[in-house]
Amino acid sequence: MRKRVYLDHAATTPLDPRVLEAMLPYLRDFWGNPSSLYAEAQEARKGLDGARRTIAGILGCRPQEVIFTSGGSESDALALRGVAYAARRRGNHIVTSAVEHHAVLHTAERLEQEGFGVTYLPVDGEGFVDLAELERAVSEETTLVSIMLANNEVGTVEPIEEAVRIVKAKNPHAAFHTDAVQAVGALDAGVDRLGVDLLSIGAHKFYGPKGAGALYVRSRTPLQPQALGGAQEKDRRAGTENVPYIVGMAKAMALAYEELAARNAHYRALRDRLLDEIPARVPYTHITGPKDRDRRLSNNASFCFEYIEGEAILMALDLQGVAASSGSACTSGSLEPSHVLTAMGIATELARGSLRLSVGKDNTMEEIDYVLEVLPGIVSRLRSLSPTWPERERATQV
Ligand SMILES: Cc1ncc(COP(=O)(O)O)c(C=O)c1O
Repeated sequence: MRKRVYLDHAATTPLDPRVLEAMLPYLRDFWGNPSSLYAEAQEARKGLDGARRTIAGILGCRPQEVIFTSGGSESDALALRGVAYAARRRGNHIVTSAVEHHAVLHTAERLEQEGFGVTYLPVDGEGFVDLAELERAVSEETTLVSIMLANNEVGTVEPIEEAVRIVKAKNPHAAFHTDAVQAVGALDAGVDRLGVDLLSIGAHKFYGPKGAGALYVRSRTPLQPQALGGAQEKDRRAGTENVPYIVGMAKAMALAYEELAARNAHYRALRDRLLDEIPARVPYTHITGPKDRDRRLSNNASFCFEYIEGEAILMALDLQGVAASSGSACTSGSLEPSHVLTAMGIATELARGSLRLSVGKDNTMEEIDYVLEVLPGIVSRLRSLSPTWPERERATQV
């Protein structure tokens, strides 16, 4: 069988074997309920507390400011709904951006249906949020601003520190949430440096297990719990904690930050080769996201190809052993062009021809070279079949 080349680390990452090792004792031996008082529970409690301290240490916050959740989506929903409802007496306006993950956007849309006012900030052609619009949007009524740290489709790293300054100058009571699901493991996620009040994390994007996440909530930020029941997580999220997965998430995060510089250097080398070579080898190709590579995620290379559908490229790449994405995993399978690309002003036709390659720590330059070898042929074959491919080009291809 042909060796597989996995280039969809923005969708999910494999479990690091060192993370699995850290999790196993909590699956096998320390299965007690961490909220119980007897001896069997104590090891589980220690695992949970240790994980919380590790994550707090990396975020630069206090352990009690970390709430464990089931993943990035739940963290985002808890941040938006939790603040919107807890601060409702002060105002009912939320600000977010047009390029957020659907975990934020669909939650914001639901809040609109429930009577909240939501402003969706526009972005420029590279996916950067319009800060002048942010300044205009924030009012006395605004209780929450939610802007992602890094975009999952095109890798834009948003200027969060500047956005926080703008928001706090206009309304110091407005809480600032950032969805850092794609950023953790690639960027510094220090909450004080960023200045944010809430920050979402999902373990499976940095070689941790799926189904584990966390929400940082700065002390004194109003937050109404969404899952009700037991008093876990200091009454902010009911439910027996998933101890093995939480321990795994902490281990994965610790490894990601211990190895951050080396991983980023590796990602950049692979990403830059894709960004340099694909447009050079494939005509009518556009890089999407920031041109300035210091302002895009170190592991993201994203493109739009004229005259073809992204889905067709994915299927052809899969047949050649390459796993990739046309944007976010959540929208693949739908023929709707990505909301991120359209918000960036990319025409619908062109947005349909999108491809995202997201590299990981175990990819090699040989794998990148293999992709560079097969991709031009795939694109030109698909174009020769495309009804939109200009006749003159068709003539030169066949
Ligand atoms: C930016 C962003 N936010 C939120 C999520 C949702 O995270 P999870 O899959 O852990 O629910 C993702 C996952 O793709 C993401 O990329």
